[in-house]
Order: sequence, then structure tokens, then C-alpha cells
Amino acid sequence: HGCQMNEHDSEKITWLLEKMGYSFVNEIDEADFIILNTCSVRHSAEDKVYGQLGNLKNLKSKKKNIKIAVCGCMMQRDESRNYVIEKFPNVDTMDIEENALSIDDKLGANRLYNFKSYVNIMYGCNNFCSYCIVPYTRGRETSRRPGEIIREIEDLAKHGTKEVTLLGQNVNSYGKTLDEKFSFANLLEEINDIKGIERIRFMTSHPKDISDELIYSFKNLDKLCNFLHLPVQAGSSRVLKMMNRKYTREDYLRKIDKVKSLNPNIALSTDIMVGFPGESEEDFLDTLDLVKKVEYDTAFTFIYSVRENTPAANRTDQVPDKVKHDRFERLLDVLYPIQERKNKAFIGKDVDVLVEDISKKNESKVSGRTDEFKLVNFKGDKNDVGNIVKVRIKDANSFSLVGEIES
Ligand code: SAH
Ligand code: SF4
Ligand code: F3S
Repeated sequence: HGCQMNEHDSEKITWLLEKMGYSFVNEIDEADFIILNTCSVRHSAEDKVYGQLGNLKNLKSKKKNIKIAVCGCMMQRDESRNYVIEKFPNVDTMDIEENALSIDDKLGANRLYNFKSYVNIMYGCNNFCSYCIVPYTRGRETSRRPGEIIREIEDLAKHGTKEVTLLGQNVNSYGKTLDEKFSFANLLEEINDIKGIERIRFMTSHPKDISDELIYSFKNLDKLCNFLHLPVQAGSSRVLKMMNRKYTREDYLRKIDKVKSLNPNIALSTDIMVGFPGESEEDFLDTLDLVKKVEYDTAFTFIYSVRENTPAANRTDQVPDKVKHDRFERLLDVLYPIQERKNKAFIGKDVDVLVEDISKKNESKVSGRTDEFKLVNFKGDKNDVGNIVKVRIKDANSFSLVGEIES
């Protein structure tokens, strides 16, 4: 469950388990050991885990010897940990590792794909956005040393990785905990020089910290992908202040303008939340207006979810569920046509696609991503998985492109 960081933690866990002699089974009923790596970011993420643990009760009663373990962000919160202890006696083990940095560099990872890899560059978060649980589950921000990161990526490149995605909750503040002066842009420059690496991506950057140096990196570094995910959360400065985001609507739009003026073809992505406590209709209209101004290629959209013991949870001006859902629908009604228009602009163009997956239904259908992170479906060769191929775009909708390999 959860974000890319959790996904990557799962890759490390499976690496470790394979070293211990375990192997994957396809059916849950065949497993001797079941481990749930959990997320706390929204109520719904926790509910999914409770649902799965509920289903596992039956399995455990049929098969007494299986072991069930729970790890990840939920285990860092007293509320969810206590709930699991109370309601799910079928759980055998819970992990409450506090300092991820202490184990990371000794561990390998059993990566899902060998041609594209996640690499942690930092852990934790210091921002304490007033709605967010992450600083409480992942602890304080710490950067990995540049030498360690570079070594890991060089090694990945030797073993076939073409694309790296650098992970951190706020990559723009990379380096702040290091003894030496070394910025995120410096790190990108060094990675850009690694032989074998063809694409560099990163997640996530915070608008308050995005530097000119980074904005120029998009222009100067040939391997840095033409895609920026810059979570805005809300388009109203009043709401942004209540969220403790530390930038205004105007600051955000200025940064976006600068990014666009230096990199006119860059694809833009964001996270947007509706229904933060105190969000008025007028505030929400500001969000819609900002979405129209920026013209995002894609966006992750969320309905505000109360997280106990965060500052926003204690507010008495919570937005009614019906209003939240209504705003959510209206937001999608604005976002999707923009996405569709931006995707349709690719029709007729030749793009480089890193082929990632074969369709489960039809082996001659493959999919992959463009430099701009656009998903492309096309008829291809399964042997091309892991290769970058030229594809001509023939059609598009709000979510993906359809292409053809020119023969
Ligand atoms: N560090 C990243 C975000 C990690 S969480 C960043 O700041 O960009 C991913 C997204 O989940 C956030 O950007 C936010 O939009 C959403 N989110 C976080 N807490 C939430 C909550 N309590 N309710 C709804 N969405 C939330
Ligand atoms: Fe959460 Fe804000 Fe940190 Fe992102 S920057 S993880 S939203 S506290
Ligand atoms: Fe990620 Fe969810 Fe934890 S978003 S940091 S797994 S709370």
C-alpha cells in the first residue's frame, strides 16, 4: 500500500525474504508468510488493510502455521497499532523500525523491473503540512550521502537499469542534513553523467523549495525527463496558509511560469486536495481557476481525510462529506478535458517510449512511458520490454495515448 517509497521498501523486504529462503507464491492460500506493508495517508488506505486482515482471519483458522506480519506507516501510529492488536489477534508480528537510514545501505532490493528502478535519496519530512500524517510516520528529514546514492545507481546501470526515479518526500531540500554543501541539482548533474542511465525522474518536490538551479536543470541535463510533479494542494492562498504549505497561489503560479518559459514542452503534474477544513466555495473556485491556468497534463486528486492528531483534524470547520464529494467531481470535470487536450496534442508526433509491460490479455500489445510520463499503448514485440523505441502517436484520451511503431 501507499507511495513509491513504500513500494520500494517492499522491494527491499522481498529481497531480504528471498535471501532467507522464501519465494513468492501466486495464491495467498499457498503462503506460509504474509506481510502487509501499510500506508496511513488517508483513512481509506488504513481501511483497506483492516479489510485484508479481516479476510486473513479465515485463512489463519484453516491453516494454523501461517505467519502474518504488518509493517509500514500504520505501525508508526499508536491509534492504528492498538487497533490491530485489539481487533486482529491473527497478526503475529508488527514492525516499528524508527530509523530507516540505519538499515538501508546494507540491504539490496528485489526490484519489480530491472530496467527502471527507485532509489531513495532521502527519508522523512520536516514540513508538517497541517493535514498530513507522513512527518509522524516517517520521522525527520535525512539525506543519504551523495557517494552512496551514486554508487547504487552506477551498480544499477551495470545491471541494466535505464531509468532511475529518485525518491524523497521533498527532494528539493536534499542535502540540508549533509556535512558537505551538496544540492539536489548537484546530485542530478552527477547522475546525468552515469553511463547506461538514460532517464532520470524524481518524486516529490515541494513548491516552496523548488530552486532556480533545479528549474535550469530541466534545460541543461539531457537525461532529466521532461516532466515535473509539483503538488499544489489548493489554489487559494487562504487555504494554503491553513495547510501550512508556506507558499501562496501567486508564488506557485510564478514558479510554474518560470518552468514553462524555460521548458515550453514540459509536462506538469500535481496533487490536489478538496474539502480541507474551512475551504469555502470561493476557495474551491480558486483551485479550479488555478488548474485552468496551469493546464496540468495529469493530477492526483484527493478528498481531505481527517488524520487524528494532525493540526487540521482538530478544526471545528470540517467540510460536510456531500460538499467534498461534489467538489471532487467538479474538479475532475475541469481536469479531464485539459488532460485530454494535452494528450491529443501528441497525435501525429513520434515519441520515445520505454517499453514497460506486456498486456495480460494479448502478448502482442505492450505499453510504456514517454519522456513526459505519458502512458502509450501499442502493438509491439514482447522482446522490446526494457528498450526505448520510437512510436508514432495515432490517438489519445484523457489518460493515455495510442501509438504505432513505424515500419
Ligand atoms: N511529500 C509529498 C506528498 C506525500 S502524500 C508532497 O508534499 O508532495 C501524497 C499526497 O496525499 C499529498 O500531496 C496530498 O495531496 C495527499 N494527502 C496527504 N494527506 C492527506 C489527507 N489527510 N487527506 C487527503 N489527502 C492527503
Ligand atoms: Fe506531507 Fe507536506 Fe511532508 Fe508532503 S511535504 S509529506 S504533504 S507534510
Ligand atoms: Fe507513503 Fe503512505 Fe507512508 S503515502 S510515507 S506509505 S503514509
